[in-house]
Amino acid sequence: MSKAVILDCDPGHDDAIAIMLALASDSLDVRLITVSAGNSSIEKTTLNAMKVVSFLGKEVEVAAGAIKPLRREVQPDIETHGESGLDGPELPAPSFLLSSRTALEAQAAVLRESEEKVTIIPTGPLTNVALLLSAHPELTDKIERIVLMGGACFGGNWLPDAEFNIMIDPEAADIVFRSGVPITMCGLDVTLKAQIFPDEFEIFRKMTNKTGPLVAELLDFFHKSTTPPFMAEEGHEEGAHMHDICAVAWAIAPELFVTKNLNVQIETEGRLTLGCTVVDYNNVFGLSPNADVCFDIDRKGFLQLLIDNISTLL
Ligand code: RIB
Ligand code: CA
Repeated sequence: MSKAVILDCDPGHDDAIAIMLALASDSLDVRLITVSAGNSSIEKTTLNAMKVVSFLGKEVEVAAGAIKPLRREVQPDIETHGESGLDGPELPAPSFLLSSRTALEAQAAVLRESEEKVTIIPTGPLTNVALLLSAHPELTDKIERIVLMGGACFGGNWLPDAEFNIMIDPEAADIVFRSGVPITMCGLDVTLKAQIFPDEFEIFRKMTNKTGPLVAELLDFFHKSTTPPFMAEEGHEEGAHMHDICAVAWAIAPELFVTKNLNVQIETEGRLTLGCTVVDYNNVFGLSPNADVCFDIDRKGFLQLLIDNISTLL
């Protein structure tokens, strides 16, 4: 029985590969793809999502979400994803029209009409999910779980102690983590371990379909843009960090991950720590856990899952 899911993403190179994995997997039934503003403007992330779905020859509704975070401004990550939000490979124009429904309208309709509960997999800022929870509290019990890429128990990437997806819209993340909906948090603690190394890019480049080589091209660009020069100089070359793919992989094969059930609160006012996911690892506050936080991954099994699924695509 495949799991009904809604993806909410901000493509973004890793989002694009996450979409591919989700659409390839027999374990998931992707009912809807909604788009957030994060890695780039909503116009660019929406176009990128449509291009990826078209490239795969799949028919899934793509609906555009909020044009900006709840209270703050979009901060496109041009350094990582380029001006288009998906620089590197050239993808053909989409072959279908954007949904006439907003992300909020489409998400609510999918939840309302689904016979079974739906898993939401956000891989960008949580603006659209927060709006859904705020506008339709009556639909909360139709959400099976929110499996998100975001945050970190230790460290950060946009600030020393804050990860991009959370920090771009901390107020949205606060709504999500206070919602009571079961959460799996794929933060940097696990996604920085979910690396694919340049020699492994070649596995995808050598695939005889057209999607494998596209994945390799996406990894080429994404890896170059996320490996600090000092790391490459020192010969300590990190692989490409498969941030968003972790969230989809958890939804397919949670057994690949090690998690801890912990309490997580969001810093929405910090001068230096805005957007920090304050993960109470030692239960100092004594508050009840509200998230399954991922800390480790079977990297080889993760890579094999991606290979097995990407190879089934066009
Ligand atoms: O911090 C990594 C996250 O920020 C990923 O979702 C990436 O796509 C960017 O959105
Ligand atoms: Ca993303």
